[in-house]
Amino acid sequence: MGNLKRMTNKFKQNICCIGAGYVGGPTMSVIALNCPHLRVDVVDIDEERIKEWNNNDISQLPIFEPGLANIVGKCRGINLFFSNKVEECIREADIIFISVNTPTKKSGIGAGFASDLKWIESSARQIAKFAKAHTVIVEKSTLPVKTAETIKTILDSSEQNDEVNIKNNKTFSIVSNPEFLAEGTAVNDLQNPDRVLIGGDDDNAIKLITNIYKNWIDPTKIITTNLWSAELSKLVSNAFLAQRISSINSITALCESTGANINEVAEAIGTDSRIGRKFLKSGPGFGGSCFKKDILNLVYLCNFYGLYEVANYWEQVVKVNLWQQKRISTLIIRQLFGTLANKKLAIFGFSFKANTNDTRESPSINISKNLLQEGAKLNFYDPKVKEGQILNEFDETTNRENCVVSETPLKAAEGCDAIIVLTEWEEFKVLDWENIYKVMRKPAWVFDSRIFIDKEVLKKIGFQVWTLGTV
Ligand code: NAD
Ligand code: UGA
Repeated sequence: MGNLKRMTNKFKQNICCIGAGYVGGPTMSVIALNCPHLRVDVVDIDEERIKEWNNNDISQLPIFEPGLANIVGKCRGINLFFSNKVEECIREADIIFISVNTPTKKSGIGAGFASDLKWIESSARQIAKFAKAHTVIVEKSTLPVKTAETIKTILDSSEQNDEVNIKNNKTFSIVSNPEFLAEGTAVNDLQNPDRVLIGGDDDNAIKLITNIYKNWIDPTKIITTNLWSAELSKLVSNAFLAQRISSINSITALCESTGANINEVAEAIGTDSRIGRKFLKSGPGFGGSCFKKDILNLVYLCNFYGLYEVANYWEQVVKVNLWQQKRISTLIIRQLFGTLANKKLAIFGFSFKANTNDTRESPSINISKNLLQEGAKLNFYDPKVKEGQILNEFDETTNRENCVVSETPLKAAEGCDAIIVLTEWEEFKVLDWENIYKVMRKPAWVFDSRIFIDKEVLKKIGFQVWTLGTV
């Protein structure tokens, strides 16, 4: 397979990955690291992003992900390449991973719920046009079940679309290989995954993809299924994870009303091996580019198939998430005497979780908007998110003029009435809280939505402290 291509190439096979984002970049870096016999080209239409992937200063990659720069440093220019040469790399590829974005549709049929597949469609059209010989297409993006059918239809019409009239027995096989990495732990998740899921109906194609992963992953961890099971399992997997967060977050409010402690409750229920300890950490609600969009997509699919009760059940997970963010915002306003007019608040943490610079759907965005609406002036500090990325989330309708980004936590806290901790960055645990207290207006508040700063230490210094899920 693929032996028609790059006959002179020193590599056994050529992989092309369309999309150099949070999935394409790390996933392909780890494949390149473990498979020196494969050439991996990561291509993207975004020139700036590719420039950043090729940055000589390896600490300035477009994605901050612990351990990633090290791998890119080892493989880049050897068997890992980042470029905008989409057409050329498609032409040379034996295997094409599609890792493009699939956000929620903003308009038209299914707006607000269904995934926008326009980037998938444009990738499929490019592949249909430029691929040569037999090519295995791997769905790496998260997709609604049955998307492979759409891709197949586009690819099957490739002969008509083939402008350059290359007829080198152009054929395609489609495999679904959804990605389960979490940001912040992506390298470890890719090196030591719980499982690798490969769905398809062409045994040769499944074998080809399985063989890539077998270079570093125990074969017993590689699950093969039909196409539709693989596509659907990814959506369901995210829905189950998000559901646990909404479930535990719904109990934080009850703890605050009753004197129970959410961490104690989580520990007590998590020790039941049927429930398990992971994903029971309550907080300001789940963020990230995927949980919300994937659940809404699942809701859309259920409605499409007339399964309204199932759709309502899953939609509630998203509703509880929004409720938690609103609840925390309201609680802050109430504690600060019911008004934020002329008050300065420091927002500690803007990424949606620690160890990533990704801010997509970060709870910090909604909570900040709620506070700005009440007239607050906000001073932001995040160790990895750049100033522009923070300010871009706001505009004149959300009082962007009241937002400032500071370079240190101390600077951000100056003259503030409260600090709202929204991301669990380790450095927040060991700040010089005494000095921070000194520069704030009194009474000085800390609202800890991540339950990870020592409440007693803060209280001793003189802070008023609110910690989620406790009294
Ligand atoms: P992203 O937005 O970071 O990256 C996607 C990239 O694809 C962008 O750089 C974009 O310019 C590029 N692109 C779009 N259309 C293109 C085209 N026709 N040709 C070339 N490049 C093109 O998105 P992401 O976070 O990497 O997510 C990608 C997919 O993976 C989504 O479906 C997502 O649901 C899924 N996923 C994401 C994660 C995660 O942690 N972010 C984890 C698992 C799965
Ligand atoms: C999540 C899944 O964990 C991955 O398996 C999946 O591949 C990915 O989505 C995806 O499809 O995009 P990610 O969003 O990167 O990964 O990060 P998570 O660690 O899952 O955190 C998501 C959100 O939930 C964060 O805002 C985090 O703070 C929150 N969270 C997580 C909690 O509030 N409590 C927890 O116990 C765990």
